[in-house]
This record gives sequence, structure tokens and C-alpha cells, in this order.
Amino acid sequence: MRYARNASSLEGSATLLYTARAASMKAAGADIISLTAGQPDFKTPGAAIEAAKKAMDQGKTLYTPSMGIVELRQAVADRWSKVHSQNFKVENAMVSCGAKHSIANMLEVVVSPGDKVLLPKPYWVSYPQMVRRLGGISVYPESGGMLITGDDIRKAAAAGARGMIFNSPCNPSGLVNTRTMIEDIAEAIRETGIWVISDDIYEDLYYGDGQVPHILTADPDLRNQVALITGVSKTYAMTGWRIGFAIANPEWIKIAGRIQAHSTSNPCSISQYAALAVVQGEAEEDRIQMYDAFKRRRDLICDLLEKVHGLDFEKPEGAFYVYPRILTDKEINTEEFCISLLEEEGLGTIPGSAFGNEGYIRLSFAASDDDIAEAVKRLKRFLERGDFQ
Ligand SMILES: Cc1ncc(COP(=O)(O)O)c(C=O)c1O
Repeated sequence: MRYARNASSLEGSATLLYTARAASMKAAGADIISLTAGQPDFKTPGAAIEAAKKAMDQGKTLYTPSMGIVELRQAVADRWSKVHSQNFKVENAMVSCGAKHSIANMLEVVVSPGDKVLLPKPYWVSYPQMVRRLGGISVYPESGGMLITGDDIRKAAAAGARGMIFNSPCNPSGLVNTRTMIEDIAEAIRETGIWVISDDIYEDLYYGDGQVPHILTADPDLRNQVALITGVSKTYAMTGWRIGFAIANPEWIKIAGRIQAHSTSNPCSISQYAALAVVQGEAEEDRIQMYDAFKRRRDLICDLLEKVHGLDFEKPEGAFYVYPRILTDKEINTEEFCISLLEEEGLGTIPGSAFGNEGYIRLSFAASDDDIAEAVKRLKRFLERGDFQ
């Protein structure tokens, strides 16, 4: 049988693959510590669960409008209007089945076959595959730094890039573009006129002062060419509920809404009511507790990693990942490195190759203090043995 070219060229998700591999070894009885998780290791707040139960009791279990229930779209518009000093309306907001789905929908509206899309490196695993699925072509910043610059955007646009997916705090590095860098990026976006999908899924897990620097704060007039993606998955430990949000100009949202109407219909009705409770602020205590735990664990893992020879890393300022580079004179294949680390030391990590960089590994600190401490011990032992060299 002949399969469609774009679909059959897609690669699987390396993060899911390595996570599943560590999980299956653990299930088979091996002594495994896994720092592969891309999700909080906390329970969903009670307020969301109560709201879901109430929705079920009240029979809110049938189709909803395909773009999401109006109360939730309005709550999203209100909350992120405050965050970005904007005046978003219902028409600017759409609910989808997770932020991943929001990105896929919004991307489909702007990418035609052959279009070039700029992806900062390291990138989240799904971006290049999402672009490929639409027949687009991923291009990468020329500077090769860990954070994109305005000049990278200018050069890419001059070479034909029509848009960019931007992600700060970044998965996998946990790094955040500073305010000055964001101002430079905003200027380049204005000059070049490219569209931007700003994946803000980790915006509430920012460990610097105040709000995470944002393109729309740097230049509110960019609202028509910048789509915001956010959700409840990481902020409120709700990854399994599959609710994500897109906020953009009404035309972009309207077309994305049609795509959704003809593919998934609406996101789960019960999950939408659960999300409504947390977006309206009913789980702020839980959110702050989880945030504080992640910030403390970030400090813990960084303190421990600093004492390990053979690694170089920048302290993450957001998300729950740290992304060390393995220091070695030789070329290193990080897939082989991560497989040996898992098999020999029982430590699950994700190779940088999944995010477009060789020589790095991603460690998630969405794990207990004990697991973090034991993981760093195992990594240190593995590096000291040097078998991977
Ligand atoms: C950068 C980034 N964007 C989007 C998502 C998707 O979030 P959701 O679970 O809401 O689809 C993830 C999840 O890992 C992510 O890391």
C-alpha cells in the first residue's frame, strides 16, 4: 500500500520512547530512576476534580461548541488579557485537546506546503514533525546559540522563513530569553512581518522575578501576528485532561476552529469544566505549592550537578528541565549514551538529539528529592567510568 508522503515520513516522539523504555524496565522489576518525565509528579488540584464531578452530575457530558464552551473561552481571554495587558475577547480564544493540539491547529492555518518555518534550537521534539506533516520546511537559527536572537530572525526571514515557533521557558533547556533579548526579538518580528506561535506552556514555571519576559509585553502591537499557546497541563498538573488554549487574532482563531470542527469536534466537555475552575483561580494554592516545589528542586539538582565533573550546564530559569552538555574530546552519540546510562545505571534521561543538539542530555526534575539525589549519583558514577568515550 502507498501511504501519504508527509504522514509516512513522520518520526515518533523520542521523549515518549525513552520514557516508555525506562517505565517498562521498571515494570519488569529493574531498579530504575527516571528523569524523563515531561509532566508534574503531583496530583491534579481538588478544585478541578470537584468541577469535573459536578459537570458529570449535571449532565454536561455531551458535545460542546467545537471551539470550547464560551465560559472557558471568556475566562481564557480575561486571564491572559491581564497577563499581557491586552483586551482579548471570546473571538480571540479557542480551547483544544492539549497545548500540543492547539499548536497543531494554529500551525495548520499558516503553513502551506514548501513554507519555511524557523525553529530555535534546541526545539521541543514535536515542532519539526508538526511542520513536516503540513509539508513545511523547518529552518534553524544561523548563530547556533542556545537562545535565538533578533538577527537570527532577520537572516531567516531574508532567506524565506515565513514564521517561527518560539518557546521560552524552553523545553528542553529550561532557559529563558531575557527582557533585552525579547525586545530585540520583538523588533525583528515587527521588521520582518513573520507570524509567530509563542508556545507559553511553561510561562507559570518561571523562577526569575515577576512575569516571564514576553514578546507581546515588549510590543503589544504585535498581537495580530503572534499567537499565544498556553494551557493547564504543566501549571496545574493536568496533562491527562488534554486541555490547551490558543489566543490569537480572530481570523486565525476562526480558521483553526474550522479545522478542529472537522477533526476532533470539541475537547472533552468534562475536562473543559475542570479547566474552567483552575483558569478562574480556584487552585492557586495548589499552583503555588507545586511552583515552590519545582523551584526548590531546581536548586537541588543544580547544586548536585555542579559537583559532577564532565558536565557543563546553565542553571534553568524556567520549566522543570536541566540540559547539561557532556564534556568529552570525542564525538558523542547521546542516544547511545542515554541507552547505556539506562542499562548500566538504571537512570532514564532523554538524548539531546531529540531536540536538535548532539552532546546534551535532558534531565527532568519533576521527581522527588530522593530520586534526584540518587539520579545524580548514578550519572556521576557513569561519567567517572567513562565507558561511553
Ligand atoms: C514545549 C511544550 N509545548 C507543548 C506541550 C504540550 O502540552 P499539552 O500536554 O498541554 O499538550 C509540551 C508538553 O510536553 C511542551 O513541553
